[in-house]
Parts: sequence; C-alpha cells; structure tokens
Amino acid sequence: MSQAKSLPKGFLAESLGRIQPSPTIAVTQKARDLKAAGRDVIGLGAGEPDFDTPDNIKEAAIAAIRRGETKYTAVEGIPELRAAIAKKFKRENGLDYTPAQTFVSPGGKMIVYNALMATLNPGDEVICVAPYWVSYPDIVLLGGGKPVIVTAKIEDGFRLTPEALDAAITPRTKWIIFNQPGNPSGACYTREQLKALTDVLMKHPQVWILTDDMYEHLVYGGFQFSTVAQVEPGLYDRTLTMNGVSKAYSMTGWRIGYCAGPELLIKAMSKLQSQSVSNASSIAQWASVEALNGPQDFIPRFQKVFEERRDLVVSMLNQASGMECPKPEGAFYVYPTIRKLIGKTAKSGKVIATDEDFATELLEQEGVAVVHGAAFGLSPFFRISYATSNAALEEACRRIQRFCGELR
Ligand SMILES: Cc1ncc(COP(=O)(O)O)c(C=O)c1O
Repeated sequence: MSQAKSLPKGFLAESLGRIQPSPTIAVTQKARDLKAAGRDVIGLGAGEPDFDTPDNIKEAAIAAIRRGETKYTAVEGIPELRAAIAKKFKRENGLDYTPAQTFVSPGGKMIVYNALMATLNPGDEVICVAPYWVSYPDIVLLGGGKPVIVTAKIEDGFRLTPEALDAAITPRTKWIIFNQPGNPSGACYTREQLKALTDVLMKHPQVWILTDDMYEHLVYGGFQFSTVAQVEPGLYDRTLTMNGVSKAYSMTGWRIGYCAGPELLIKAMSKLQSQSVSNASSIAQWASVEALNGPQDFIPRFQKVFEERRDLVVSMLNQASGMECPKPEGAFYVYPTIRKLIGKTAKSGKVIATDEDFATELLEQEGVAVVHGAAFGLSPFFRISYATSNAALEEACRRIQRFCGELR
C-alpha cells in the first residue's frame, strides 16, 4: 500500500507548529543510529544516569506484579505513594504537605505539562531561565502561553540574579519555572542566593513558582540543597514543588514524576490527567514507594561517582585549546563555552560559526555526541552529560581536545 506524501492542509494542530521535537532526544537517537551503522561513537547527549535501578526497587515492582497490583489506579496516584511523597518532602525539605496536596504523573515532564496546560491562557507569560531545560519553553508554547527568556550568565555562575528576575516580571507573568541543580548548567543556589530571589517574588503576588528539583540529590562537595517554599514560607501558597525518581534513583524508564502544592491546583491537574493518560503505571508507582521509603544509602554512592566524573571532565575540558568549562555544584552536566573557537575552521574545511556547527563537526570528525547550546537558549556553549563510564569520558575528552587543537 502506498502512503500519502503529505497530510491535508490544516490537518495538523497549529499548536504543534509552534514547537520543536526535543533536541536532546534527537542527538541521542543520532548517536544510536551512527553506532548501529558501525561508527565508533561516544554518546554524551543523554540525560540519564548509567547506573541500574537498585535491586530493592526492582524487587518491589516484581512483588507488586505478583500481588496483582496491575490495574488502573487513582488518577492522582496510589495512596501509599502519595503518603511516601508527603513524608519525603517533610524529611528532606522540611515542607508540610498532606497526601491530598501531592500528585503523581508518568514522569517529571508530565508534571510540568499538566501544571502549565491546566493554568495557561493565551498571552500568559512564563519566565524560563536560560540556559533552560529544553522542554520548558515548548510546553509553554503548546499551552498558548508566552515564554519569557531571562539569561543567567556564565559570569554569574549561570545563576539568575534578583535584578534580572525583577526586570522580567510583568502584570502578565503567571509562572516562573525555576530549576536547580540546573539542566544543562548544573548550577545550584545557596539558601542566601535563593532568598534574594524569593524576596523579589514576594513583591509580585501574581507570579506562581514551579520549582523543578529533579536533581536535588545530585549535588557535590557538601553543597546543601534548599527549595523555594522552604526558604520562603510566604510563597508556599503559590509554589508547585516538583521532583521525581528518574534521576536520583536511576529510574528514567519507569516514568514516575511527582509534585506537591496548593490542593486546588492539584485538583485542576488531576482533572486534566483524568482525560489524558489517567494514571502512572501501577507497578512503577509501587517501585517508587520503595524508592522513597526504602534505604537511601546508594544516593551518596551515586554522588561520589558523579563528583569524580565531574572533576575529571572539567579538568580535561579546560585543557582543550580555547575552551572554558565552569565547575558546577550539581546535576550530571557541564556547560562549557566555545566563545573563543567561533570563527575557526575544522579539518573538514567547515567554519565553526555556531555551537550547532561545533557539535555537528565534533560528531562527524571524532564521533562524540554532545548537545549544542542553542537548544538550551544560550550560545555559544554545549552540554556534556557525564553520566557514563570514566573510560568513555576520558576518551571523549581526549577526542574533544584533539578536535579543538586542530581548529585553525
Ligand atoms: C530539569 C529536568 N526536569 C524534568 C525532567 C523530566 O524527568 P522525567 O524523565 O521524569 O520526565 C528532566 C529530564 O531530563 C530534567 O532534566
């Protein structure tokens, strides 16, 4: 059977035309395809830990299957998981949430999606801090809102300044999406730095805060993580605190994200989810109960491995000619700048005019897959995910050093 070459005019939703496919997923797929075609490729594009999910969590899922926990659940999540989430927020963040204020979705991305889709009206502004996680502006656009991009400069450690935040807020600002440890920069905020921002937010009661704390447990060098509603209880009534098991427990494929916030917002998100995916997988929810309530001793072990890798990558990249790589406090990414390399020519004869050119040439010439900075709203940079073996990281950094050394 032959397939039509195009869809009828006007068939696709206009909202779809406003967004791009996820560039990080695209890079990961390209690296996979090249590998499958026999090329020697080191993929540093994927945003997922390379560790396996801990055994106690897997066993909890197997036990749930054996018990027959294989049916639809409540839209908001099973009561056991909602109770575990409320306990987690109290234990780790000093935040008081009742289970009724918590909510579970298939992945942290779906929490962001539900929150924005449930609240955005045309013209509503949402502040996204560049370099941002690729999905924020696109979800805002899908929801008919207007992303307002504020840049957190490398000179400020990729941290939003109170002045820049204040200047970006207008009467139309509905949300700020705040993410730390940051993807792609790894930047974190001390309690004092966070307080300076919450002081600004206290002056603007129309602004709600979606704080994406996905990488909370991936902080290094004794850094103390704090979250918005903890630092400024005055913002509790307009903060949605989001988190998930994907990164901290190496559970990206299980698809569980969660949040807590004002009950009326949770009810609105629940209404939306009831007409889309209904509920997160029952089995993955039971596994997440074990993740949150069970032993937490592998978290410091993960941290130690990641910290060593961060130090390795930062040191090797700073030895690459023309590259400057700040040392972030968290997540498993670094975000070096290539500002001194723009305008140079690669061995292939191609001029490196943008960070996308850099990433493309690096993949073609050396087989190292990274994500270009433009995807995160701040150029000329690129992102490396160091959630892979030390041997692969060393080899990738050696190739990057060679690539930069050969630019003329
Ligand atoms: C900052 C940030 N938030 C949310 C997510 C989404 O996580 P999940 O895989 O649970 O949807 C990611 C995943 O890459 C992320 O980097």
